[in-house]
Amino acid sequence: MVKLKINEEKISGRIEPEIYGHFSEHLGRCIYEGIYVGENSEITNVNGMRTDVVEALKELKVPVLRWPGGCFADEYHWKDGIGPKESRKKMINTHWGGVVEDNSFGTHEYMELCRQLGCKTYINGNLGSGTVQEMSEWVEYMTFKGVSPMADLRAKNGHEEPWTIDYFGVGNENWGCGGNMTPQYYANEYRRYQTYVRNYDAERPIKKICCGANVEDYFWTEGVLETAFSHAEQFHGFMDGLSLHYYVHPEGWEIKGSATDFTEEVWYKTLYKALFMERLINRHGAIMDRYDPDKKVGMIVDEWGTWYTCEPGTNPGFLYQQNTVRDALVAGITLNIFNKHCDRVKMAALAQMVNVLQSVILTEGDKMIKTPTYHVMHMYRHHQGADLLSSELTGVKEIGIGEWKVPNVTESVSADADGVITVTVNNLSVEGAETVEISLAGTGYHVTEARIVTGSDMRAHNTFDAPETVVEAEFSGYRETQNGLTAELPANCVVELRLAK
Ligand code: AHR
Repeated sequence: MVKLKINEEKISGRIEPEIYGHFSEHLGRCIYEGIYVGENSEITNVNGMRTDVVEALKELKVPVLRWPGGCFADEYHWKDGIGPKESRKKMINTHWGGVVEDNSFGTHEYMELCRQLGCKTYINGNLGSGTVQEMSEWVEYMTFKGVSPMADLRAKNGHEEPWTIDYFGVGNENWGCGGNMTPQYYANEYRRYQTYVRNYDAERPIKKICCGANVEDYFWTEGVLETAFSHAEQFHGFMDGLSLHYYVHPEGWEIKGSATDFTEEVWYKTLYKALFMERLINRHGAIMDRYDPDKKVGMIVDEWGTWYTCEPGTNPGFLYQQNTVRDALVAGITLNIFNKHCDRVKMAALAQMVNVLQSVILTEGDKMIKTPTYHVMHMYRHHQGADLLSSELTGVKEIGIGEWKVPNVTESVSADADGVITVTVNNLSVEGAETVEISLAGTGYHVTEARIVTGSDMRAHNTFDAPETVVEAEFSGYRETQNGLTAELPANCVVELRLAK
């Protein structure tokens, strides 16, 4: 039997709500169709944003939304996306499918989307192919209150009041699609560009995100920090975050593998690769610790999730994929890891919000479905802004096939401001149930809520014809004990238990 010992008297850190962030890029049907359909669409919308999608996203309590890319960000010229829609420039989205980008979704529309979602803003600037002046003017356009060329232009375009930029990414993947730079070259560019990301609102300074590594590129992390930090102490707000990108490709980058048709061996391989996130956080974190021992710079995992071969018959440049119980487990495992490393991980963004990679929502015309990943993000929302509690597993078994060995159970535990304890626990086994005995330091706790996401089959998923095959359901497989409870976790499940006195 697996035992989970919780010490609710020992707080290990604060889980920033932003760990539950999302990413939306001008890629495939993420922005257009998935989120934005325009004011004249027959699909019900508010200022162009589809109501069904916005309403579903609001239930997730989306804390922050990254935009406009991704690789698209380093080719995006923000002035193309403001002013009257009919006169906005049309361009080719060279990265993603070579389709026409009509710029009808630009800065004003993004800010409107964040207003509707009630989330923080995270703009990713163009360092790869844009100028310092362009980046600086974008920040002025969005945030300057008073008389200035860019503030005047914003007012002329219908928005007198400035907006707030909570986070600003100074380039994206500049080791690759963002300019193929060396770490030293990028770091010097970072130092220059970030200088002109001005804080016009002293009350809410912009948090600047520096481009970090891809997967295990420790050379990049070391090189960027060494160069960027040589005078960092002089700068207030010089760097607030360093990004990390990691995608799970079950069969490797070239083959990737099907989203819905996979074997048990590939199930374990996928989960093994999801667990790899912990090693990345530890190793990149160890380098960051040398430059930033007080952990002032957050690790920002602003692209994570599964990346499979796109759905048959869809545009390969659109990265549209289905989402099964396997994705629910990847989400559960990864979010538990982020929670447990909340001393360093200050934000993350699941890639991507709608219709691209490990999405929480898929759309087809006026239809919309919630994916298994959606339901996990919904259950885990209770961790947002909560205190991470000390928790420890014993009796965990190593399971898997061949070299793809994983622990059978993972977990994380937090307490919210009202003292309600949230336990999220996953059974990674595709075939066996597992009993987990959960104990707390104190007594008198009762279960106030118990939810589960699972499926009768590891490949189970929702379709437009059968949208409720995998849902978040009541979980009754537990019994309370004197100082906790005993839960019977069925195979392949993500469970949330909430406890209060
Ligand atoms: O999310 C898809 C792409 O993956 C992003 O545009 C890029 O940053 C990453 O390589």
